[in-house]
Amino acid sequence: MAMPPTFVIRHITVADALPVRLDVLRRGTPSQDAAYDGDDEPHTTHIGATIGDRVVATSTWLIRPWQHDPATTAVQLRGMAVLDEMQNTGVGHALIDAGISHTYSVGARYVWAKARDSALYFYERCGFVIVGGQFTEPASGLPHHLVLFATVTA
Ligand SMILES: CC(C)(COP(=O)(O)OP(=O)(O)OC[C@H]1O[C@@H](n2cnc3c(N)ncnc32)[C@H](O)[C@@H]1OP(=O)(O)O)[C@@H](O)C(=O)NCCC(=O)NCCS
Repeated sequence: MAMPPTFVIRHITVADALPVRLDVLRRGTPSQDAAYDGDDEPHTTHIGATIGDRVVATSTWLIRPWQHDPATTAVQLRGMAVLDEMQNTGVGHALIDAGISHTYSVGARYVWAKARDSALYFYERCGFVIVGGQFTEPASGLPHHLVLFATVTA
């Protein structure tokens, strides 16, 4: 059986991230705009997976408050996307691990995300918990839940 090619987790630019976001997250949705407020902020970090020069997965980590503890530093994960042919090969989990390390390095206590319901199991496998009820994101028209990873437990 052919093994999937080996990927490297590394920092990427927003220009690297945009085509992957568009392909994976905007395909078949009402919006073709894959840029986010804060993409260019100095504390925003884009972490991707590459095979050679090709970006095959992307994630973006922004300093944004967690709504239930707004006085504490927190990170929002956005744009979690793995190209179809690389899904279910551990790339997504590797990006989460790298993003959590980044979160510790900036002294943040929480990572949160608006997770598509179709990806909730993935987030739970990566240590996130679901918080609150379902809502629809306008950009995709898809059902979502908030998910939360706490770097320090009470
Ligand atoms: C969701 C996504 C980011 C996960 O990344 P991935 O590289 O495919 O996931 P991994 O291979 O790292 O899988 C990690 C775990 O999650 C599980 N998993 C991944 N996607 C899943 C899904 N859609 N449904 C159920 N389980 C899933 C895997 O089985 C694995 O479980 P295990 O640890 O028990 O083996 C990726 O599949 C993707 O880009 N999907 C389309 C876009 C999307 O939904 N993005 C998230 C928007 S919030």
